[in-house]
Amino acid sequence: MSTLDPDPGPPPVGGRAAEGVITIERFLADHQPATATGSLSRLLDDIALAGKLIASRTRRAGLTKLLGKAGAVNPQGEEQQLLDVYADDVMTSLLSGHGRVCVIVSEEQPEPLLVDESAPYVVVHDPLDGSSNIDSNVSVGTIFGIYRRENASIPPTSDDWLRPGRDLTAAGYVLYGTSTMLVYSAGEGVHAFTLDPEVGEFLLTWSDLRYPEDPAYYSLNLASAPQWEQGMRRFVDWLHRDDTPTSTQRYIGSAVADFHRNLLHGGVFGYPGEVDRPEGKLRLVYEGAPLAFLAEQAGGRGSDGIRDLLDIQPTSIHQRTPVFVGDRQLVDQLEACLFRET
Ligand code: AHG
Ligand code: MN
Ligand code: MN
Repeated sequence: MSTLDPDPGPPPVGGRAAEGVITIERFLADHQPATATGSLSRLLDDIALAGKLIASRTRRAGLTKLLGKAGAVNPQGEEQQLLDVYADDVMTSLLSGHGRVCVIVSEEQPEPLLVDESAPYVVVHDPLDGSSNIDSNVSVGTIFGIYRRENASIPPTSDDWLRPGRDLTAAGYVLYGTSTMLVYSAGEGVHAFTLDPEVGEFLLTWSDLRYPEDPAYYSLNLASAPQWEQGMRRFVDWLHRDDTPTSTQRYIGSAVADFHRNLLHGGVFGYPGEVDRPEGKLRLVYEGAPLAFLAEQAGGRGSDGIRDLLDIQPTSIHQRTPVFVGDRQLVDQLEACLFRET
């Protein structure tokens, strides 16, 4: 291996290690269809740049007074952190002004943001997922989904942004962890890039990530088990039998971080419904659907406990849903446990 090559270490069970120095810009250019205009690739570049800017501030949040609360609440009535607001501002700024994005749907904005009514794409995003963990220096992330409008020659309507996840053109996340990684899929597999802060580039680390055959973890917040329905407890009891794939529980409390670890090592992440909030906490449009899209591209799947998350037709941009994403056999088993009446 020449000294030039980044050494990504052993590929995860289900991926291919990069050979040579490949930036995300080059990877996107090399992998876009011959007929492509390049607009989607440029849009993913814009999101990569947003990730670099958010990473640079997240890294120094404790030094630049970007820790702590913003003194406002988001459309869900949840306390906004200063970094939530910063990340949302960065995404809005980098998704505007170039004629690629028509409408932005953000966790931090009450209504969809009209950017350019003749542009081809809609972007849905959670600018900073896991933000309650920022002050304790736990990994956080940005989740995004991209829809190509079916008809960009007419003014946008809610049909452009209230779409089932199966219509997604691309989805991904930026994980601000021990390193900053951008993981995306445009429907042709899941690919992971690591930000080299000295070079300022996302460099390909692994391509074609796939869930391993044998899952290593399940990620459920067992502290909430008393609020779960009976079927969830049946699932946890099933996991702890001797003949099941895993009984190792890992829960970070940052969906992107839990999802990423399970993608590399196998597992399922879940945020179930509860007695007093059957729809759970996570939002379908900019958390559940993009993660389910990625899971399916890596050989897994996403469910709300009854049906595939990607088949759910959203009725509002902030609607919540129970979310279970990851290893296919574990999600299938969870549905079986929830489905049984007794
Ligand atoms: P967000 O910070 O965007 O509101 O998302 C936080 C979510 C998700 O990241 C995580 O899985 C979940 O909240 C954790 O919730 P609990 O703290 O209730 O477990
Ligand atoms: Mn979130
Ligand atoms: Mn968020």
